[in-house]
Amino acid sequence: MSPIAAAVFAASATAPDIHSFGNAGVVRPTHLALDLTLDFEQKVLRGTCELTLAYAGDPAATDVLDLDSRGLKVENVTADGKALAFELGAQDAILGERLRIRLPQPRPASVQVTYTTSPGATALQWLEPRQTTSGKLPFLFTQSQALHARSWIPTMDSPGVRQTFEAIVRVPAGRGFTVVMGAENGAHDVDKGVFRFRMPQAVPPYLIALAAGEIAFQPLGPRTGVYAEPAVLPRAAKEFEDVEKMVVATEAIYGAYDWGRWDTIVLPPSFPFGGMENPRLTFATPTILAGDKSLVSLLAHELAHSWSGNLVTNATWSDFWLNEGFTSYIEGRIVEAVYGVDFADMELVLTQRELGTTIEEMLKEAPDGTILFANLEGKDPDDLVGPIAYDKGASFLRVLEARFGRPRFDAFLKAYFQAHRFGNMTTARFLEILKRDLFVGDEAAWADAKVMEWVYQPGLPSNYVVARTARFERTRAAVDAFAKSGDLGLVKKDWSSAEWQDFVESLPRPMTPAQMEALDAAFGFSTAGNNEIRFDFLMHVARNAWAPAFESLEQFLCSLGRRKFLTPLYAALMESDATRDLAKRIYTKARPSYHPIAVATLDAVVK
Ligand code: BES
Ligand code: ZN
Repeated sequence: MSPIAAAVFAASATAPDIHSFGNAGVVRPTHLALDLTLDFEQKVLRGTCELTLAYAGDPAATDVLDLDSRGLKVENVTADGKALAFELGAQDAILGERLRIRLPQPRPASVQVTYTTSPGATALQWLEPRQTTSGKLPFLFTQSQALHARSWIPTMDSPGVRQTFEAIVRVPAGRGFTVVMGAENGAHDVDKGVFRFRMPQAVPPYLIALAAGEIAFQPLGPRTGVYAEPAVLPRAAKEFEDVEKMVVATEAIYGAYDWGRWDTIVLPPSFPFGGMENPRLTFATPTILAGDKSLVSLLAHELAHSWSGNLVTNATWSDFWLNEGFTSYIEGRIVEAVYGVDFADMELVLTQRELGTTIEEMLKEAPDGTILFANLEGKDPDDLVGPIAYDKGASFLRVLEARFGRPRFDAFLKAYFQAHRFGNMTTARFLEILKRDLFVGDEAAWADAKVMEWVYQPGLPSNYVVARTARFERTRAAVDAFAKSGDLGLVKKDWSSAEWQDFVESLPRPMTPAQMEALDAAFGFSTAGNNEIRFDFLMHVARNAWAPAFESLEQFLCSLGRRKFLTPLYAALMESDATRDLAKRIYTKARPSYHPIAVATLDAVVK
């Protein structure tokens, strides 16, 4: 094995990835060179991807290169200018198709694939100009996590296969397009519509990201800034003014930020997630622009991934809690450092409430779904997003924090990130490291902390640390008074957003039309500017079939694409005969403007 190949294979997971067709045990792409043209008319990307290869052991023993693809039209594959035989395998609903390339002798150091994406590519959303704020230009953005990179890049799409990349991206010239990627900007030729990027740090394909459209930039700090459509930019810059502080606070606990810049792009409202931690360039939903910074913990979350996830990456999607549980824990630490312990505690209580109800429900129907180390046989890892990996995962780390104290636990995590940076991590390997470095081999302490139960058993172990905040005593008292007598006198107009959120989430279920009416008349929840509060109230609207707010509900469902808001609302509407037809009507109207990833989830809900 060459020294380079040895390093590539050593830094990687030994666990096989059931979600990739790649034959990563014998050969791996280490670098990608993309040259892509964006065709906004046909809604396709076309171009070439050159993959540099590293072989494990004797290359002669490896006669095929298996890559992942989803709907790619492959025109040809070449090595050193000579055509290679290739075949696309049968389509699998979750995995896509295997792209098998026959390797000639001697084995090539690189292969080049010429291809076009399909108009239904699951990573891509092509927006018409009318779906943007100014309406001037069309817009394109990617979402590669979990298994969607393969719908726009032919490579081994596994979190355990890290690759550096460079890219040339071509857009129509002279129309004012800007292209951004989660990578370093190279020499852009804006007039010709040619943009160049370089990513010197190896990343798994799920972190490769691109956006193009009418996009402007504003710096926020020495290494931080924000991209957005011009009309959104000033609001976004104001909302995000603390991002540099967030980086400083995180570095103080977990060590240097390793990615150079940290910018954020605010995407159009159809972005299916809240945020996506694309390295150097977080992708974010505009639904967090509340005007009072109350929802910026989402940026703390995506920043935290710069350590947990991007630096030390889950080896397979079963290890997803290593990404999201650690990140949710660190998110809380960043929020506490920048906005104070009161604010962090309130957010924690809100997420724990959701964790509690989710676990309670899942224990009845699908208890194994509450296990941190996820069994994903026959499952799409996109469905992992939710309180288990995130908040049960974070709760486990909080148990460790409480047991060992912050100084020791922080030192442990910092050393862990440092030791495994730009590498991959399996759950089993993490537990070995945890036992060795934090428990220093103390078997009694290990058993007492219930580590194996936390990671491999359903439900919440008995040493779960329940968060508390005195701030919610007032909101709960106000809910009680309202529930008993309709009195709203205990509601204080100066509550923080988190307190409002707690109030609305704690309201009785069900409520009468008179109760709904009283609340909305007093506080205008159904049209609240804070989308979390509005969503919480619209859930009551859906559950109680409260018709006066159906118009606002419809407007909400038609104006954004964030899956976390859409899925529970449609599900609640589908539950009752009174609202099922309404759900179907709204969905039929809104579906064309939703992202393919949201559509995949919602098609199973509204049917
Ligand atoms: N990496 C996730 C988003 C994701 C996970 C996309 C799995 C596709 C598959 C991102 O970091 C995330 O967790 N986003 C959350 C925000 C957060 C504050 C909990 C979201 O989008 O809601
Ligand atoms: Zn996350």
